[in-house]
Amino acid sequence: MILKNIKIDKIIYKGYGLGTYQGKKVFIPNTYPGDIVDGQLLSEKKDYYKALPVKFHKSEIVRIPARCPVFTECGGCNMLDVDYFQQCELKKQVIEDIYPDYISLINNTIASPKADQYRNKVFFPVTIRDKKIIYGMFKNLSHTVVSADKCRLVSSKILEIAQEVCNHLNNANETVYDERSGKGNIRHLGFRVNSKQEVMVIIVTNKSKLAFTNTLIKTLTNKFPQVLSLIQNINRSNTNTILGDSDKVLLGQPYFFDEIGNKEYKVHYQSFFQVNRQITELIYKQIRADLDFNSNVLDAYSGVSTIGIFIADKANLVVSVENNEWAVQDANYNIKLNKCNNIGVINAKLEDKFEEIIDKYKINTIVFDPPRKGLETNIRDLIKNSKINKIIYLSCNPTTQKRDMQDFCKAGFKLEKMIPYDMFPHTYHIENYALLTR
Ligand SMILES: C[S@@+](CC[C@H](N)C(=O)[O-])C[C@H]1O[C@@H](n2cnc3c(N)ncnc32)[C@H](O)[C@@H]1O
Repeated sequence: MILKNIKIDKIIYKGYGLGTYQGKKVFIPNTYPGDIVDGQLLSEKKDYYKALPVKFHKSEIVRIPARCPVFTECGGCNMLDVDYFQQCELKKQVIEDIYPDYISLINNTIASPKADQYRNKVFFPVTIRDKKIIYGMFKNLSHTVVSADKCRLVSSKILEIAQEVCNHLNNANETVYDERSGKGNIRHLGFRVNSKQEVMVIIVTNKSKLAFTNTLIKTLTNKFPQVLSLIQNINRSNTNTILGDSDKVLLGQPYFFDEIGNKEYKVHYQSFFQVNRQITELIYKQIRADLDFNSNVLDAYSGVSTIGIFIADKANLVVSVENNEWAVQDANYNIKLNKCNNIGVINAKLEDKFEEIIDKYKINTIVFDPPRKGLETNIRDLIKNSKINKIIYLSCNPTTQKRDMQDFCKAGFKLEKMIPYDMFPHTYHIENYALLTR
């Protein structure tokens, strides 16, 4: 069924255009405010439709060539067909739509210094196409893989290395893991690149065997001197988690060194590190600028303690809390590497130790940088009666951030400013920065 002449009123988080058809909401991907489109009905719920655009009658936004052969098919990018600065404006509108009461406090989106080839980490799923293993990206909301050999988000060198690994896997008659049967071997090909363009290659397998690895090491190191390490990660679980717990380090070390600003960080391949180094530096500078001198800071969800180390010389003390053991090991190393003597790292789930930590270390300032699900309820509750007077909340999910901020506001905090950062150009994702005080 075709829904005719839907006028798109706004763009919402997750990249959908939102319009109405006969009084009911319609969500349509790849549409922008001002478009008038016909949509092919995909699904109907009590109070909304989902549709795919099939015919554009009018557009207010200027569309440009996407320069990607699989745009609209691939789940990686949503906005390749509009100018980059227009993307930033649309992302600001998305944040304004989520926070209508704070529009005057919302900054313009800070553009990424690099709009293309900005990702320093990627994990490609693999599939079989024409009897050959290829790497790619998942289609939107599915596990069908589309080829990523022209992907604009990562460097062309990574794409060349990924192709070389696929060539090897094909020559070695390797098989691709099938999530329904649990059979087959290769699950993902991962790449991490540091500021010196050195590369860690991670092959995620279902079995402990990987064919002819010595040949692969020789080929990779001959053709790509920037490849520092090759790791086989073994993931036997039947879940969507990419990495398993065991591995074999086939070449080099399972970590490398990276930089943000003038700080250096050791990063294990299992540790979190922001995917867009250039804009991360701008965000960390903003955090630093918004901190008061001599604060007692909780660096909550701290990864390899990147933020803690970046701000340590301005603080009285910093407590970094992180639950990933590899990241905690890196953080302890990084604190010495950067000669910080006022940071401690705690390996724990934040929700388990929050009360004890804010009490023991007389924390008055928190930098929250949680995963997408945001903060646990007990953390939000405990803030109310604490001595915390400043919160910086960096979030990759503005909807859970909004839920958490509502609780902070009930606890007497006031939003001072909000800054959307475009950590993920061409996609709907936004890194949203909020400063709250009381
Ligand atoms: C978005 S990353 C932020 C890392 C760091 N702030 C940075 O800028 O690189 C979130 C981090 O929280 C950690 N994490 C997830 N759940 C956690 C929890 N319940 N308690 C503590 N750390 C957690 C993850 O391992 C990850 O390193």
